[in-house]
Amino acid sequence: MNMAKQPERSRRLVLVPCPFQGHITPMLQLGTVLYSKGFSITVVHTIYNSPNPKNHPDIIFVPIADGLSDQDIRSWDLVGNVAAINENCKDIFQRFLQKLSPVEQEQVCIICDEIMFFAEAVADHLKLPSLILRTTSAATCLARSALVKLNEQGHDLSQGSVSRDLVPELHPLRFKDLPFSLAASFGKFAKVVNKGYGKRTSSAIIWNTMKCLEELTLEQMQQRSEVPIFPIGPLHMIVPFNISSSLITEDRTCISWLDKQPHKSVIYVSSSGSIAALTEKEVAEIAWGLANSNQPFLWVVRPGSIRGSDWIELLPKGFQDSVGDKGFIVRWAPQREVLAHPAVGGFWSHCGWNSTLESIGEGVPMICKPCFGDQRVNARYASYVWKIGLELEELERGEIERAVRRLILENEGNDMRERVKELKKKFQDRIRQGNSSYDSLNELVNFIVSL
Ligand code: UDX
Repeated sequence: MNMAKQPERSRRLVLVPCPFQGHITPMLQLGTVLYSKGFSITVVHTIYNSPNPKNHPDIIFVPIADGLSDQDIRSWDLVGNVAAINENCKDIFQRFLQKLSPVEQEQVCIICDEIMFFAEAVADHLKLPSLILRTTSAATCLARSALVKLNEQGHDLSQGSVSRDLVPELHPLRFKDLPFSLAASFGKFAKVVNKGYGKRTSSAIIWNTMKCLEELTLEQMQQRSEVPIFPIGPLHMIVPFNISSSLITEDRTCISWLDKQPHKSVIYVSSSGSIAALTEKEVAEIAWGLANSNQPFLWVVRPGSIRGSDWIELLPKGFQDSVGDKGFIVRWAPQREVLAHPAVGGFWSHCGWNSTLESIGEGVPMICKPCFGDQRVNARYASYVWKIGLELEELERGEIERAVRRLILENEGNDMRERVKELKKKFQDRIRQGNSSYDSLNELVNFIVSL
């Protein structure tokens, strides 16, 4: 795709990300893509999880107070924190826009994360155009709405479900694949879902997904939607240059370690993504499962992702000595570069949507072990529909050892590798001129100009 910067357009796009890594990354990628299309970009963000402006010299960053206390941030109440941000940021955001000159206001168009409702409400109040960015899969949206309906019909789903029965009208999802949220009361979760998928005031939906993965689901979503949907993903592949939006410093020493490993031998493990955490017992199972597989592994242990410890203090005694150079542990990896490395043969992922797209984009098959929410839906699609990943049922060392060996060493893993490579090719085709994501992006640009 030709991404040379296009002539300047008069519109200033004000982007409002939701302050979690998996939401900030696609929003900044979108900002970079739209900058290359000639728009000026301002990102209005919370102080909590501020992006690093130095990594994005073409973007103007405006921090706003979010009112979250240290205790809020330490809590696992993500839904509660999102509600607090929506409550606390509305007036400040409105004042920011009202301070712009009338000419500047005339040029503004707001693009907000689908759950940053406050930005959409302010846009509506000030009669400014706005669009929504959805950062999860289309299948997740359908499943979230279904989850709320099932609960209304009397199914008690508040604690999640382990049932393998298929959910009516949601094939191939089973009850256990429904996107239960983390540590929120079902009522609070349902409120966010109803607000998110009910009537919105924005003029369009931008979606980090693509027809080659989710054609039928996207058609269904478009039929239900009163506004146009622009599936322009995968955003990480259409950004004109590599940008890092990591909130944690990437440890690049793992690349020289990877350089020394045999071709397609390494299992890259990022089993908690940017939010989830595991217990000491679960981590011990992962550690011994990896050690017993006898395959080299690169393991991201995010600080705080093992409950009750700062970093790796609670890893089982003797584990690191027993694996020696076969294992490499980092706090945070340059994930896209790792996935693109020839030594990497598989990705154990929690199946966050960004990680799923990045794995497909590099043609790497997966071990799918979701933690919560949309990850369950993505994991089901990766293992059952696209057949590019193994589903890991239990965090149990024997099962982990077998899964790693099946993925890296056996024909089953090779077949998945072939299938994911085909999907990778489709991704590459879709972002080329004359194909769906490319066309959607150009239509989006024209749409924004027409507002
Ligand atoms: C959650 C949801 O599950 C996800 O689907 C939603 O869209 C955002 O919030 P998260 O845990 O952030 O997900 O995972 P994911 O969406 O995969 O995003 C994580 C990002 O962090 C990826 O872009 C990945 O490349 C990056 N990452 C992760 C690193 O750069 N280094 C690491 O070591 C680990």
